[in-house]
Amino acid sequence: MATIIDGKKISQDIKDELKEKVAALKEQGTEVTLAVVLVGEDPASCVYVRNKKKACEYVGIRSLSFELPEETKEEELLQLIADLNAREDVNGILVQLPLPKHMDEDKVIKAIDPKKDVDGFHPQSVGALSIGLPGFVSCTPAGIVQLLKRSDIETRGKKCVIVGRSNIVGKPMALLMLREDATVTITHSKTVDLPSVTREADILIVAIGKKQFITSEYVKDGAVVIDVGMHRDENNKLCGDVDYEDVAPKCSAITPVPGGVGPMTIAMLMYNCVSAIDINR
Ligand code: GUN
Repeated sequence: MATIIDGKKISQDIKDELKEKVAALKEQGTEVTLAVVLVGEDPASCVYVRNKKKACEYVGIRSLSFELPEETKEEELLQLIADLNAREDVNGILVQLPLPKHMDEDKVIKAIDPKKDVDGFHPQSVGALSIGLPGFVSCTPAGIVQLLKRSDIETRGKKCVIVGRSNIVGKPMALLMLREDATVTITHSKTVDLPSVTREADILIVAIGKKQFITSEYVKDGAVVIDVGMHRDENNKLCGDVDYEDVAPKCSAITPVPGGVGPMTIAMLMYNCVSAIDINR
């Protein structure tokens, strides 16, 4: 039977550790503050932002909320970011994505001071990760490393196959698994004979954005499977990029959806906010 990797419990442990740190910082007179910027009313983004603010409250991080209308001009958003960059009482800045179509996401991300880039999306943060320098790491991949470490899953010398090459998950995931001494392969929509590649994986990380795409034929016996996907199935139940019922019996360990990778993203955002204190000092 596969071990079910409990992201809910692991994320709770991380938030509890951070809560103690934040309380200790407060005793020394230091407050951790995250500015959360939401443009428009995308329903999924509204839920994510609400959950991020709730997590801040739990951990003891002060959150400042900036909710701007859909029709906000790009210059206005850039001005808000410049103001937040300049504020000494703001340690982290998060601009929820996606942005409305009339805005250039790359330009907006680049406007955030890398010292406050708690999402780890700024080119400087990505560059630092790629050459092993300290900096903020994108929250979902950082959360997956924590899931593996805290489940005592060995990464050194293991074959890790990542399905998906996005800037937010696939690429930083590959860099992090390299840092963890895995032998890493990134696959994508143009990969020829994908199952023959994924079947090589000791650790298979799936961030492809296609509902229940990975079935048992893609998975080696005894593999560890990490599912980044989040969808609704035909019964409106949450499901991932992995066909869990089909794949789980073959695995040594697997993340469920929900309760696997999802809760880790917010826990690692909280972690980055607390780290921002040291980076800003
Ligand atoms: N939209 C979906 N995921 C994320 C995330 O991790 N950070 C931000 N800023 N926007 C997102």
